[in-house]
Amino acid sequence: MKINRRSALAGIALQARAQSSPPVERPRPGVMSAFWEPLDRQMIDWLAPAKSAHVLDAGCGRGDHVRLFAERCRVTGVDLKPELLDYVQGALAATRFSGNATLRQADIAKLPFKDATFDLVWSSHVFHGLRNIAAAARELKRVLRPGGRFALRENRVLSALLPADLGFGVAGLEARADLAFTKWLTEDRAARGRYPHLWGQILRDAGVRDVQAKSFLHEANQPFSDIQREYLRYHLARKREWDLTEADKQTLHEITDPASPRYVLNRPDLYYVSVSTIYLGIA
Ligand SMILES: C[S@@+](CC[C@H](N)C(=O)[O-])C[C@H]1O[C@@H](n2cnc3c(N)ncnc32)[C@H](O)[C@@H]1O
Repeated sequence: MKINRRSALAGIALQARAQSSPPVERPRPGVMSAFWEPLDRQMIDWLAPAKSAHVLDAGCGRGDHVRLFAERCRVTGVDLKPELLDYVQGALAATRFSGNATLRQADIAKLPFKDATFDLVWSSHVFHGLRNIAAAARELKRVLRPGGRFALRENRVLSALLPADLGFGVAGLEARADLAFTKWLTEDRAARGRYPHLWGQILRDAGVRDVQAKSFLHEANQPFSDIQREYLRYHLARKREWDLTEADKQTLHEITDPASPRYVLNRPDLYYVSVSTIYLGIA
């Protein structure tokens, strides 16, 4: 995966700026999906679509949510990128629920569906990257039946893994990396038009009512599983790609190098927490 360009498979966290450090090794296929699956299940359990419901996953990416919705009801996944839809098709074929899922290549801003087609619209980590977010929100509301639910997932709080003081380097490394990421993300958004609101507002502006935010925790404690270890190493290593000092990048390099005495994933005190927020309203 190349750095410095938008990548659908990788999600927002991979939309990084290439710095001087070597490219960060990506986790093996399936590791990201497996790492996030407990959180994905929590969110989908909370949304609890009825067995008779028809869900739209708008910007379905590698299809982790299409796969989970398909276990419970009918789901249509749309994405701009045909190669992603091919990947999702392959992942679905390995399940017992592929018959519940339909995939369509389409632009969220111009969907090939009649008004009031869906009971639940789910769009996860897509809106921050759209050019015309207001038009996309109106289009998604159009395809929702009156009384249907619009669930928009966008990050509100960043994750945490490291202690503030690692015992070497300059204390506060993770906070500096978060700041660099937030700055990049905000500037990236602003390049398509600034959005000086929290994400629930885009639903209200589209005429969605009773909008509430609900957040979910994803936690990993030591001893980490192999999947967690692989993902968390990548999670830390990719911070080298943000706008940090060379000293901070060197620290990140050391703490993510399994051959280094400073390899951080062996620390028994390590604990990862991530917060995921859904803005939910009624059409
Ligand atoms: C960061 S990924 C998120 C994927 C998935 N929803 C998830 O949460 O893992 C964003 C996805 O939205 C898709 N996307 C971006 N703009 C889109 C548009 N206008 N219409 C349809 N899909 C779009 C991208 O191709 C990409 O797969």
